[in-house]
Amino acid sequence: MRSGYGRSIFEPLLPLILGRDSSGEVAAVGASVKSLTVGQKVFGALHPTAVRGTYTDYAILSEDELSPKPASVTHVEASAIPFAALTAWRALKSTARIAEGKRLLVIGGGGAVGFSAIQIAVATGCYVTTTCGNKIIDRLMAAGAEEAVDYTSEVDIEPVIKGKFDAVRDTIGVPETEKIGTNLLNRGGHYMTLQGEAAALSDRYGLPIGLPVATAVLFKKRVQYKSSHGIGLGLPSHGSDIKSSGHESWVQSNHL
Ligand SMILES: NC(=O)c1ccc[n+]([C@@H]2O[C@H](COP(=O)([O-])OP(=O)(O)OC[C@H]3O[C@@H](n4cnc5c(N)ncnc54)[C@H](OP(=O)(O)O)[C@@H]3O)[C@@H](O)[C@H]2O)c1
Repeated sequence: MRSGYGRSIFEPLLPLILGRDSSGEVAAVGASVKSLTVGQKVFGALHPTAVRGTYTDYAILSEDELSPKPASVTHVEASAIPFAALTAWRALKSTARIAEGKRLLVIGGGGAVGFSAIQIAVATGCYVTTTCGNKIIDRLMAAGAEEAVDYTSEVDIEPVIKGKFDAVRDTIGVPETEKIGTNLLNRGGHYMTLQGEAAALSDRYGLPIGLPVATAVLFKKRVQYKSSHGIGLGLPSHGSDIKSSGHESWVQSNHL
């Protein structure tokens, strides 16, 4: 975004404060806020559609966008969790509805969304395979992945990955990873990508042409994958299912 991605959508909103995650102390609360008190240490994330951001000293979040920060994590650690973890949660729990014993492939398990996806799936009792760079393999195995394949060491990683999967979370979303992910899915499985074409096509052709073309491309892919692979294609699903209640708190962000 800093280098201009999504400018067709965001340019009219400039100047724009970026950032979704926040961790800090409650500085003030609205009259109807029940569960938070001034001085409490909290962390959370703004709704994906919020126009204001959190790269600020003070951020305004609604009551249901915040949770008490566990004492075991610092503000820096806590602020790295919410949006990435909610993005992973939404795909795995709301879209794929993963359950104990299911097999999940996380493409790009070393990133913020991928690492969250691995931990959520392992905690659910799934068997997790991931692709990642070689430096992070030990960490992902320690988090409970059954297999971690170094995407930098093999020319073709698809034959190296063992078995087929009930769901694929592709956090990279380039044609090469899309091919691997869709080929390795069981029929009826979910391929979930984070890369839609809406922003890129709108940047290139403008919103009135870019958005309908992106919708048409997605529809075509969905029909194609349904008939060729018998699988569902998930839209980029960012952030949370949280809905704003209008009950807001000011959070003084120590670290964002
Ligand atoms: N973070 C969020 O809160 C959030 C929320 C919504 C959507 N997203 C979107 O989700 C996507 C991923 O974001 P992220 O924050 O998780 O990224 P990130 O933390 O920057 O991590 C990306 C990871 O992908 C790995 N990687 C790159 N190419 C790969 C490949 N071909 N195969 C396997 N792994 C590969 C990198 O490993 P190496 O470093 O070892 O190369 C790195 O660990 C982005 O499109 C982002 O816009 C992010």
